[in-house]
Amino acid sequence: MTTYLAAEANPTHNTGAIRLYDAAAFAAMRHVCQLTARCLDSLVPMIQPGVTTDAIDRAVTEFALANGAVSATLNYRGYTKSVCTSINHVVCHGIPNDKPLRDGDIVNIDVTLIVDGFHGDASRMYLVGNVKRAAERLCEVTYRSLLLGIEEVKPGKHVGDIGAAIQAYAEGERCSVVRDFCGHGVGKLFHDAPNILHYGRYGEGAEMRPGMIFTIEPMINLGRPHVKLLGDGWTAVTRDRSLSAQYEHTVGVTENGVEVFTRSPGGFETPGLSLDLSA
Ligand code: MF3
Ligand code: CO
Ligand code: CO
Repeated sequence: MTTYLAAEANPTHNTGAIRLYDAAAFAAMRHVCQLTARCLDSLVPMIQPGVTTDAIDRAVTEFALANGAVSATLNYRGYTKSVCTSINHVVCHGIPNDKPLRDGDIVNIDVTLIVDGFHGDASRMYLVGNVKRAAERLCEVTYRSLLLGIEEVKPGKHVGDIGAAIQAYAEGERCSVVRDFCGHGVGKLFHDAPNILHYGRYGEGAEMRPGMIFTIEPMINLGRPHVKLLGDGWTAVTRDRSLSAQYEHTVGVTENGVEVFTRSPGGFETPGLSLDLSA
């Protein structure tokens, strides 16, 4: 059974109930999510061969400071950086370090900022120098799968419809969907109910209602879907070392459909990709 509650109630932990946010909260989410998207936009020029992921982490820390925000990942469950940087076969939660990016890498940069207690969570793939066609195609499939997931968001539909649409498309493109991580309710909490699976069947999961806010963040692999966790307790990699990609948006359910809060203000939704979305 699904429980829904007004988001003003019980804000401190994930009780499994789905929060429904009011218009003021939607306005606050618009603000923090646009800041998060602007942060991701600001990184575009620096993502070049030779730059370290620590330098990206510093840039995000400084962006947050300069804009009256804090990073939600800093000191989150023992995580010590402002950003996750997941390169090539790293699926998610890659930890910034002093190693430089290399020509041909694909890197997911995932930023969550907090302003006035509201969380904006978004990530994109960045292409480093000249990337192989297979890697580029994986990024394209992953972004298109996110868009197809977003298209399912509407009151009366089920959260499982999102995963069903993503899985059908990604597997049709001979890619696989990671099962071990999912999207999540977000807003006053970083990770809240409901879980948003990126696979499954139509009609499964909670019914969507206006006021729900959650992320959609499919992780798509060129090879098999299985992941393993490295010894640092965070870094998730593909077991078969195949390439993995991810894009993430924070979205809200409106009376008629969906509002995408984390759209790139600068037109950098898919930096480095030339996507024809009419195709
Ligand atoms: N931003 C990630 C997400 O999309 C979570 C990162 S938690 C961290 O949910 F601790 F690894 F940073
Ligand atoms: Co997220
Ligand atoms: Co994220």
